[in-house]
Amino acid sequence: MAPRGPGSPSNLVPWAAAVLLVVGAKRALALPEICIQCPGSVRNLSEVALYCKQTPELMLQARCCLNQKGTILGLDLQNCSLKDPGPNFPQAHTAVIIDLQANPLKDDLANIFRGFTQLQTLILPQDVSCPGGINAWNTVTFYMNNQTCQGQRNLCNSTGDQEMCPENGSCVPDGPGLLQCVCADGFHGYKCMRQGSFSLLMFFGILGSTTLSVSILLWGTQRRKAKAS
Ligand SMILES: *[C@@H]1O[C@H](CO)[C@@H](O)[C@H](O)[C@H]1NC(C)=O
Ligand SMILES: *[C@@H]1O[C@H](CO)[C@@H](O)[C@H](O)[C@H]1NC(C)=O
Ligand SMILES: *[C@@H]1O[C@H](CO)[C@@H](O)[C@H](O)[C@H]1NC(C)=O
Ligand SMILES: *[C@@H]1O[C@H](CO)[C@@H](O)[C@H](O)[C@H]1NC(C)=O
Ligand SMILES: *[C@@H]1O[C@H](CO)[C@@H](O)[C@H](O)[C@H]1NC(C)=O
Repeated sequence: MAPRGPGSPSNLVPWAAAVLLVVGAKRALALPEICIQCPGSVRNLSEVALYCKQTPELMLQARCCLNQKGTILGLDLQNCSLKDPGPNFPQAHTAVIIDLQANPLKDDLANIFRGFTQLQTLILPQDVSCPGGINAWNTVTFYMNNQTCQGQRNLCNSTGDQEMCPENGSCVPDGPGLLQCVCADGFHGYKCMRQGSFSLLMFFGILGSTTLSVSILLWGTQRRKAKAS
């Protein structure tokens, strides 16, 4: 095919499709950083490996158990000299099971697990308390070299926390021992006291930025045309 100008649309479309394809493939291959933060792979008989092998659609990769969309369901960072789980740890907020045993962790994990609402099994070194404390879990079990925190409790139910949230907001869990007030539909702002207009604003915000990027695109192509002629 004879080379044509970069601005000609019939040339641009397959090119753009190829770029999208490459980007897509790269994303499928790229493992989240948290999975390769520690050397090696999940140990054969670890709890995370056992969990992952129970379901055929799940696969072990490096230190993670992933589903077919690449979502992290299990994370095994045991025996990795970690003092804290590091800045990539929130990537694992979808995990159902996490193993952090045999690490010199500091005993202050409470906020590290914010947003980890799916977590049902957490294995820790023996000297580190379960995040949120004993009341945040159904069962806490101590073994010789580790402890397990099992079954995240929904604290929104227990201690009359509905009163903690404002009238037009409601309480939702936000990780072990953590709660969040979410405004009801149509309310927003401080104490959920503002009504309406929010989604409209958002809509105009998106519309505005789309217009801006289209303008920039047009400006670019027009300029190139001007140069070519
Ligand atoms: C782990 O398990 C697989 C099969 O399940 C086996 O082939 C492999 O040898 C095991 N590796 C170790 C280190 O035990
Ligand atoms: C921990 O890792 C070290 C090397 O990184 C290894 O020698 C040791 O056997 C591991 N311990 C366990 C309990 O897996
Ligand atoms: C916890 O440590 C004990 C040894 O004290 C070991 O037998 C057990 O497998 C460990 N639990 C998990 C979940 O790895
Ligand atoms: C909350 O409490 C209600 C009634 O006590 C119960 O039916 C429901 O299952 C509880 N929900 C959770 C998430 O614990
Ligand atoms: C909550 O919403 C109701 C109407 O749905 C309104 O009458 C009330 O004032 C609101 N409460 C607060 C604190 O904004």
